[in-house]
Amino acid sequence: MQPSRLDVLYNADCAVCLKNRQRFPNNSVDLILTSPPYADRRNHSYGGIAAEEYVEWFLPIAEQLYRVLRPRGSFVLNIKENVKDGERQTYVMELILALKKQGWRWVEEYCWYKKNSYPGKWPNRFRDSWERCLHFSKQRNFKMYQDAVKVPIGDWAKKRFKSMSKNDFIRSLSGTNSRLGRRVANWLNRRKVYPHNVVVFEKEHYVEPTNVLRFPTECTNRNHSAVFPLELPTWFIKLFTRKNNIILDPFIGVGTTALAAIALGRRYIGIEAHKEFVREAKESIRELKGIISSRPA
Ligand SMILES: C[S@@+](CC[C@H](N)C(=O)[O-])C[C@H]1O[C@@H](n2cnc3c(N)ncnc32)[C@H](O)[C@@H]1O
Repeated sequence: MQPSRLDVLYNADCAVCLKNRQRFPNNSVDLILTSPPYADRRNHSYGGIAAEEYVEWFLPIAEQLYRVLRPRGSFVLNIKENVKDGERQTYVMELILALKKQGWRWVEEYCWYKKNSYPGKWPNRFRDSWERCLHFSKQRNFKMYQDAVKVPIGDWAKKRFKSMSKNDFIRSLSGTNSRLGRRVANWLNRRKVYPHNVVVFEKEHYVEPTNVLRFPTECTNRNHSAVFPLELPTWFIKLFTRKNNIILDPFIGVGTTALAAIALGRRYIGIEAHKEFVREAKESIRELKGIISSRPA
């Protein structure tokens, strides 16, 4: 069964909204991609869930998410624990364990490297420059379209491949002390590679699939303090869905997931508790649709 409405934003508490089985039938969405309020953060705006209560708060929501996700779908949870009294909280680890008990498979942890992270230095640690994107699935053989996230190899390749040495045609150890073998000639006719993975190290380029996500641009803050850069939902949507698939974001904020879904020809459903954010999301969606429809066919 399909959700009763697609391309819609509900102004509601997702813990309640998700229980509506007409809006959210069993096994009806292809990807759930979301960033819930983190514990003990933004108490005055929208968050404020205590770390000790976080798992208990999130589990009933996750139970509904499990129900509505298609068997071969994916759930990507962007989250990061705070520091309290000089040490990291542990609620994310506790949440992972609790989600596994609920039946989720914890497939992978992507590290979202944030080059414009909040500046600062503390006596006992350094600037915090990454967040977790936890990938869960319901079964082992989930849908994943790795080719869809490839990007053009880039100009460096022209120069690098112009003068190939004999060693480039045999498998040899890379010059980085990594002890990894590589055959440079394997990339000769490649036009596309995985993004984030063209790593420049000691002036050499290495094309390695990694789980560290570096996006070329970062978010412009709009009127929300924790907005995704558009590239983040774009990347996961390409990786885990096809055209017309359905993406759900139960904490959609100002609608970044919906914008990425629309731009990629997918369907979206968003839930957001704050009216003001829903209004802003709708405005951005209208703007984007205007831009798309004014493009020459
Ligand atoms: C981290 S922000 C998400 C930002 C979003 N990724 C974006 O790019 O705009 C979390 C959002 O969840 C919303 N929220 C908090 N509790 C909620 C609930 N129970 N149901 C739905 N939305 C909720 C907050 O208002 C906030 O906008």
